[in-house]
Amino acid sequence: MSLEHFISIHDITRDEFNHLMDLGFRLKKETKQGVSHPILKGQVLGMIFTKSSTRTRISFETGMYQLGGYPIFLSSHDIQLGRGESIYDTANVMSRFVNGIMIRTYDHQDVLDLARYGSVPVINGLTDLLHPCQVMADLMTVYEHKGRLEGLKLAYIGDGNNMAHSLLYGCAKAGMDISVATPKGYEPNAEIVENAKADAKETGSEVVVTYDPVEAMTGADVVCTDTWVSMGQEEEKAERIKVFRDYQINGELFAKSKEDSIFIHCLPAYRGYEVTEDIIDGPRSVIFDEAENRLHAQKAVMAAVMGKI
Ligand code: CP
Ligand code: NVA
Repeated sequence: MSLEHFISIHDITRDEFNHLMDLGFRLKKETKQGVSHPILKGQVLGMIFTKSSTRTRISFETGMYQLGGYPIFLSSHDIQLGRGESIYDTANVMSRFVNGIMIRTYDHQDVLDLARYGSVPVINGLTDLLHPCQVMADLMTVYEHKGRLEGLKLAYIGDGNNMAHSLLYGCAKAGMDISVATPKGYEPNAEIVENAKADAKETGSEVVVTYDPVEAMTGADVVCTDTWVSMGQEEEKAERIKVFRDYQINGELFAKSKEDSIFIHCLPAYRGYEVTEDIIDGPRSVIFDEAENRLHAQKAVMAAVMGKI
């Protein structure tokens, strides 16, 4: 498979999506059996972070090591990008040193520009708009617990943010129904909703955007939320906590989903805000399987874009 970059699930075909999922499962199983996969032996991944991270940094570094390559952590506090060097120069210079670039940043356009001006594969490790690696891990986790993706319904309750957007793209690509419930003024990006609806048409799934969390939750197989205050929105915290109050995943709202529904959350989570402890730490929560799958999903992404597997 020859994927050039991994920036948005909307950009990949259904076959490429299925290939990444299959590869993620194979790498996971074989790694646990002690098989090594030196697919990226001798390759270097430059990892630019202009935002904090626990899971993304650790899973990419570990994944690169397990694939036989070498990761370089580049905090924007330390590199010249953080002092105003252009994306154009950064992309050109980095392309002379490394074999791939993973970037976590604010402006999605910076990731597109990095891919446009550089000559090595670019992987999106989260922007204000999208978080595609997370959603590949989420869908692996759903598959493991439900045995399929097609025909399931995912309810996303909360902010129409990067997670909502990538879940819209991921579910539509996988043939899963998705209902997103947000407060007024916090809806997902209209263009992304339209794109997801077009993708869903091809896979025979349904995309619903509503203000009613009960409507979204009804009949859901998978329940998901995310922080009400994403990175960069810290100053809006007080206002957001008020606006999102009725969108908390608690026992009462969770009861509207199917009896055997599972709960997922990309983490970090804020217990008592977007989700109550009894749900996130309860028997139907699969958040740590989901966190683990970041490693396996991203190894598949790196093997595909850097190793052309
Ligand atoms: N879910 C996620 O991307 O976590 P980090 O912010 O810790 O990388
Ligand atoms: N929506 C969150 C996701 C964190 C992984 C944020 O952007 O901060």
